[in-house]
Amino acid sequence: MRETFTIITGATSGIGYETAKKLFIEGHHLILGNRNNIKAEKLKEELLKINPNGHVDLLQVNLSSFSLIKSFCDKVLSDYEYIDVLINNAGVFMREKAFTQEGFEMTMGVNYLGTYYLTELLIDRLLEGKNSKIIMVSSIGCYWGSLKVKPNIFVRRTNGFKDYFNSKLANLIYAKELLEKHRNSNLIIKAADPGVAYSKIWKWKTKFGESLDKLYQIITNTSEEAARIIVILANTNKYDKDNNLLYKFDKPRKLPKRVHKKKLRDDFIKFTEESIKQNI
Ligand SMILES: NC(=O)c1ccc[n+]([C@@H]2O[C@H](COP(=O)([O-])OP(=O)(O)OC[C@H]3O[C@@H](n4cnc5c(N)ncnc54)[C@H](OP(=O)(O)O)[C@@H]3O)[C@@H](O)[C@H]2O)c1
Repeated sequence: MRETFTIITGATSGIGYETAKKLFIEGHHLILGNRNNIKAEKLKEELLKINPNGHVDLLQVNLSSFSLIKSFCDKVLSDYEYIDVLINNAGVFMREKAFTQEGFEMTMGVNYLGTYYLTELLIDRLLEGKNSKIIMVSSIGCYWGSLKVKPNIFVRRTNGFKDYFNSKLANLIYAKELLEKHRNSNLIIKAADPGVAYSKIWKWKTKFGESLDKLYQIITNTSEEAARIIVILANTNKYDKDNNLLYKFDKPRKLPKRVHKKKLRDDFIKFTEESIKQNI
């Protein structure tokens, strides 16, 4: 039996890091898409200490640039005949206004548009597989997002939380769309809500933020606990054949109402595709 080829974005920290570690121990051949080579090399070293015979390949990708995403995907497609699992984990919560290389608001640009573009570039290879999987790392924030298709929806900075929630709702709309589109294929589409976990994403560099850090550490899950549902979805067939899309811990979760609205989904995906096309 051949090994399982698993791509994880954003494995240098937090939930992605713990997911990578667990799947490596389970024998997955990891292809890690990271933006920071130094952190990625360190992670690889750590993993190979656990099992020197395991496989970890490092490919740089920055989800805030369509051209870098394209280079990453070109390399994946030329080097790997199979992609068994794609875990779209990389994500940001922006404390300040910032934009991607193409001028999209950074949270929406990285968490949604970059992830969307990367997935679309790899999807044919995933569809060739027997039971390949796409796992979208979602968040409870998807319930608080609100998306209307308006010209400025991908470029406007509102505030950190709103942009984050919207990006997580957008991801889930995309996951639902993938599920509907590929219903008759072998491709398995799942989304994981890892719960609130102690990781870099919630660290504030202000004095007040630092003072909350200890409390935050006590009341939240560890990233290792949060990674558990992603690992189950990636490494077992427990939920492969059921009709649910989103899971929290070990249970299916209802989707936000907006995700069920076909017209909203169609308009949103159409606008996404146009926005990407105009910038590649
Ligand atoms: N922690 C939570 O409470 C929580 C709850 C629900 C969902 N989530 C989701 O879980 C995922 C992982 O978050 P986390 O909590 O583990 O956060 P984290 O510790 O900050 O890790 C985020 C990862 O994404 C990478 N990343 C950020 N921007 C990137 C870019 N432009 N291109 C490529 N990679 C990029 C980071 O790389 P660097 O190491 O280079 O920064 C890091 O590896 C995110 O999608 C987040 O929305 C988190």
